[in-house]
Amino acid sequence: MKQILIKPEIQSYDTFKAFAAEYELGEGDVILTNEYIYSPIMAAENLKCGVIYQEKYGMGEPTDVMTEAILEEMKKYNAKRIIAVGGGTIIDIAKVLVLEGGDGIDDMYDKMASLKKGKELIIIPTTCGTGSEVTNIAVLNRTKLGTKQGMVSTAMFADKAVLISEFLGSLPYKVFATSSIDALVHAVESYLNPDATVFSGMYSVKAIEMILKGYCRIAADSPEVWKEDAKDYLIASCMAGIAFSNNGCGAVHAMAYAIGGKYHVPHGESNYQYFVPVLKVYEEKESGGRLEELKDILKKCMASGGFCGAEDDKSAIVLLGELLDKVLPAKKMREYGVVQEDIEPFAQSTVDNQQRLLKNSYVPLSQEEIKAIYQSCL
Ligand SMILES: NC(=O)c1ccc[n+]([C@@H]2O[C@H](COP(=O)([O-])OP(=O)(O)OC[C@H]3O[C@@H](n4cnc5c(N)ncnc54)[C@H](O)[C@@H]3O)[C@@H](O)[C@H]2O)c1
Ligand SMILES: [Fe+2]
Repeated sequence: MKQILIKPEIQSYDTFKAFAAEYELGEGDVILTNEYIYSPIMAAENLKCGVIYQEKYGMGEPTDVMTEAILEEMKKYNAKRIIAVGGGTIIDIAKVLVLEGGDGIDDMYDKMASLKKGKELIIIPTTCGTGSEVTNIAVLNRTKLGTKQGMVSTAMFADKAVLISEFLGSLPYKVFATSSIDALVHAVESYLNPDATVFSGMYSVKAIEMILKGYCRIAADSPEVWKEDAKDYLIASCMAGIAFSNNGCGAVHAMAYAIGGKYHVPHGESNYQYFVPVLKVYEEKESGGRLEELKDILKKCMASGGFCGAEDDKSAIVLLGELLDKVLPAKKMREYGVVQEDIEPFAQSTVDNQQRLLKNSYVPLSQEEIKAIYQSCL
């Protein structure tokens, strides 16, 4: 049984300037990014690369339509390397741009197993969440299916993942919060995955420790302190990416895709909706085993960060919900526009489209249980 695979090489630079010099960025390179990430940091280098701004092709998280439009734009360039500088949205689109062997997005989903890499891919994450720089999956909203779905291919692994915390300086607090919660969910879902190994667990635990340490500082002080810990969050999200890249996320991610697809709730925010409720159901259904270990880890982290006492009687899962609420107040699904009539189709869509993730759940969840969790979050 595989224990751990870490791809690609992970590097760090203090500045984009240092990275651009080392990689000799220029002709043959295309940077996929957002204008507001490019202008303050990258523009000063006067690079001879092609530059594509993702937001010109559609707002929000990636869709099949947006990605196909960018694939069309790419034909203007004779690109040998693609440098993705952005959050999970940019990174996931870039992963599709380097693929060969499919004619359009639907065809690529059908031929996932045989896709090949046609260009070099360098990924620089500018949020501290997805860990997409070290995974071989891109998640697109398949507009005809009405849900988000992962496209998985070894051809999507980056050639280099480069961590440059300078980019996090412009990250709005809310994106920091939702993306780092996403990273925490990756670490926890990977830890509870029945296929977790000692190796993947080690990356999960380190990521959990680093993120909760920062969250306790936010709870004790103020939201602004996150910037002092930006480098740690960037490393933690990469580590959580390594963990879930090896065994996958579970029910929280599976449930998040329906609301993400229909109501365009950002990925980290939609995971946040179901994170604590799913953990509570796991606790009710099967406390003990790895969940108990996880609860010990969570409580130790929150106690050492001063958020609770080491002997606090409350369940670690309840305490985790309270800590997350300090980082970002939790919302109900109806605040995003979800109505009662969505519950049944959401549960159906989760069961129909997300078996890849549901099979990784700590305890199997039935369609009725999934529906009950959606109902409790309405
Ligand atoms: N492939 C994977 O392994 C994986 C894992 C988890 C999530 N995802 C996907 O990633 C996407 C979410 O990614 P995300 O949470 O990083 O958010 P995002 O990429 O959608 O970014 C959120 C917003 O923040 C802006 N932004 C990003 N970096 C910035 C910076 N440094 N300064 C200012 N603004 C900045 C973006 O332009 C965007 O408006 C979803 O589509 C999700 O499905 C993929
Ligand atoms: Fe995620």
